[in-house]
Amino acid sequence: MRSAVAALLAILLLLPLAGAYPVPERGVVYQVMVDRFYDGNASNNGPFYDPSRSDYRLYWGGDIEGLTEKLDYIASLGVSMIWVSPLNDNINRMASGSAPYHGYWTRDYKRIEEHFGTWEDFRELVEEAEKRGICIIVDYVPNHAGPATDGEFGSLYDNGTFVTHYYADAENATRNPYTGSVDGIYHHNGNINDWFGFQLKYANLFGLADFNQLNPWVDSYLTEGALLFADSGACGFRIDAVKHMDLGWLESFYLRLYSKGPLFIYGEYYSLSPDKTDDLYELYRYSNVSPVLNIPIREEIVRTFAVFGGLDALSEELEDYYSLFTYPNKQLNFLDSHDLVRFLNAAGRKDRVERFHMALALTMTLPGIPVIYYGDESYLVSGDGKGDPYNRPMMVFNNTTEAAHIIRTLAELRKTNDALAFGDFKTLYADYNTWAFERTFGSHKIFVVMNKGSPRNLTVSLDWGDGTYRDALSGAEMRVSGGEASLELPRNSFYVFHVEGEQGEPLIGSVTPYTAQPGQRVLIGGAGFGSSGRVIIGGVEARVISWNSTEILVEVPEVKTRKAWLDVVVETGGKASDPAKLRYYSGNDVPVLLVLNATNITGQLWIRGSLPELAEPRPLLKSSTGHYFTVVPLPNGTAFEVELYRGLRWENLEPTGLVYHGTANGTVVLEQGPLQSTTTAPEKTCGPAALLLIALLPLLRGRRQ
Ligand code: NOJ
Ligand code: CA
Repeated sequence: MRSAVAALLAILLLLPLAGAYPVPERGVVYQVMVDRFYDGNASNNGPFYDPSRSDYRLYWGGDIEGLTEKLDYIASLGVSMIWVSPLNDNINRMASGSAPYHGYWTRDYKRIEEHFGTWEDFRELVEEAEKRGICIIVDYVPNHAGPATDGEFGSLYDNGTFVTHYYADAENATRNPYTGSVDGIYHHNGNINDWFGFQLKYANLFGLADFNQLNPWVDSYLTEGALLFADSGACGFRIDAVKHMDLGWLESFYLRLYSKGPLFIYGEYYSLSPDKTDDLYELYRYSNVSPVLNIPIREEIVRTFAVFGGLDALSEELEDYYSLFTYPNKQLNFLDSHDLVRFLNAAGRKDRVERFHMALALTMTLPGIPVIYYGDESYLVSGDGKGDPYNRPMMVFNNTTEAAHIIRTLAELRKTNDALAFGDFKTLYADYNTWAFERTFGSHKIFVVMNKGSPRNLTVSLDWGDGTYRDALSGAEMRVSGGEASLELPRNSFYVFHVEGEQGEPLIGSVTPYTAQPGQRVLIGGAGFGSSGRVIIGGVEARVISWNSTEILVEVPEVKTRKAWLDVVVETGGKASDPAKLRYYSGNDVPVLLVLNATNITGQLWIRGSLPELAEPRPLLKSSTGHYFTVVPLPNGTAFEVELYRGLRWENLEPTGLVYHGTANGTVVLEQGPLQSTTTAPEKTCGPAALLLIALLPLLRGRRQ
């Protein structure tokens, strides 16, 4: 009997629980720089510790235990995810006059930094956070280790065992004939100085030892390191510096992490404006890698509220920006961060605190998941300077402020009002100082109105029932009559009116993650799901793991397709939802270096091909050795075909009429001509017999001629 109970318990423990992975859009992220948050264990403070906390480049004592101690405080803000700064073991020396208190200079991806604690501390943090309805998102840094020519010179350890350092690695490095990159465990191509193309991904960012992720050992090592966090209960990752890695490698890396569950992964692509000439646009246009931090629009929001600018212009810019995404609600909005000047340090205006409240409320009501930087709630600023490292002062705990009230109120509203989580975005009125927008998701609505100029009255068309509505933040009233809303708007006011009706029909708000392969679990968030039903993905019924009226966990089925995006439909009570989108990968994907020897073709080239992974155009880079190349996740061992396109913009790609083929493995030099195959059905992973047939076909054809 006992053994039966034990077996049942073991099965239950192995069963994925939807609750462990929240639907991210219904939550708010709280970003913490661990060293600057709270010192929970004085015994791990040294070396390079400044007890006076005046040298911003030394450790100040914060650690994982301190974060765990302060979970009640964080929970009091209503947030449901904590993004912690990188926790991996960092270099044990100073570099460029700084200790690695920030965590971005890793030496061992399998260990926890001793200033911050242990794996046990991490697991305790996860458990304690979970008790408070919070999950932990880990900042992970797979682009680079520590400084290459300073500090520990890129020394790398595998769970304590020395692997290499930058100079030793340079001695064994060789030039890749196709990419032109000098490769070992690291890239040896100097520092990034033109911030474009090849260098962006294959040279050292700010002198940091840049990983060669195509080296199979590096690929496994970085993946295993991240899996240690997923296995210890992390619910997601913030991936550092995604601009500096092959997107194709990231895709295959993420797919392997997603095998652990519906993790929430988002990237930091540092760019102040979306530019169609770099691959930020690839990320945006097709959203086929991961969500990203909304860095470009953050700049506009801060300028408009902290300095000057029109809300009418801002509203247009935001509408344009969101239109680039398949899932605009999954991108992340923020005001402050460890890389940018805090709003309150940037704004010189007398009314900067009121303007901060407005901008804060805006980032919590726009499409996208809000990120609160530690201390936003307590007006934390540095008197010593503005940007990095002064935007990382020691935390001041105060959750009784107006800012804390805004965060808490809107975080709580987001949990129950799906218009905040999944709604569309429609400006109903905008001029220089006043802006009103509505967001709707089925029977849930919000109406946001703000005025940063002189007091005024506003009448605006609003398709809500007649009645009086109350603002969530201040209790101010709005009257709606005959489809017209009338409001009094004091200077620097911000109102959030809301409606939560019953949702009678199934409506999908999001799929997490929205990139998936067969067998992977995805979490569907939405409303009106009832208590049971069916989920159809790409026309195939998915296995349901758990189901409630607002969340469904399913396993992605195998689908015979060449399409990039599949429709996801929820059926319940005889009704079907509108389709949501899922970016489909064939499964068993490995990062493949695709090479095209096309010295006679010039210009920007693109490929598109016969597998879901190749269904959307991918830009090729030109190497110093005269080849075109890109990295693509492809199902290992599968034969495929690509067509070549030319053009500078996504919209105007011209077919060149050239077709190439290959079979996915580590490096594929594409061969000209179509794939010679007897079948037109989409290829799944080919067995040895099929591969033999494909290899022999040209010979057989030759004989026939
Ligand atoms: C971006 C991070 O946010 C920043 O703080 C860090 O220094 C660089 N990436 C390098 O890892
Ligand atoms: Ca890189």
